[in-house]
Amino acid sequence: MEKNSKHSFETLTEFSGATSTGVTSILFVCLGNICRSPAAEGIMRLLVSRTGLSGMIHIESAGTGGYHDGKMADARMRFAAKNRGYELDSRAQTITKKDFQKFNRIIAMDRDNLRAIHALGDSKSSQLKLLSDYLGDDWPIDVPDPYYGGDDGFEYVLDMLEAACPKILAELQM
Ligand code: 4NP
Repeated sequence: MEKNSKHSFETLTEFSGATSTGVTSILFVCLGNICRSPAAEGIMRLLVSRTGLSGMIHIESAGTGGYHDGKMADARMRFAAKNRGYELDSRAQTITKKDFQKFNRIIAMDRDNLRAIHALGDSKSSQLKLLSDYLGDDWPIDVPDPYYGGDDGFEYVLDMLEAACPKILAELQM
């Protein structure tokens, strides 16, 4: 499955036989789709590939803001991610209502973005999650937006995403 093929993407069916949840496709969502959600996409894609499930779980990311559509991830996030072995090669795109039909899981980075996704209408409550739903109470509810901060913020986002992604994969394999 080609990545960033949002407009030609059809929901995969192969993986549903291997899960009770039928989850086969994940959309990570933040505001600009250049920092947090592209990092989540890159981390999840490598994890899925290492688990031998590439082609069975479709992963994309999107923003609710649309300010950066078509752009690569922020250079600071690409640099921090590359240092941990993740290549971020997505291009920013904006979430639309159609994504509710395309993705089994839509995972928002924070409550503001969860509200913005809700506001698009017609989502199923079972498909919408906050990233921190997959984490314990020792993590914050919202993945902090690193855009206006220093390098530490990007590292913290990666720490949080690396903690959550295996839990997301575990849910798919239940
Ligand atoms: P993201 O970070 O939502 O994690 O991609 C941001 C990127 C850009 C802006 C805000 C947040 N911005 O205001 O341009």
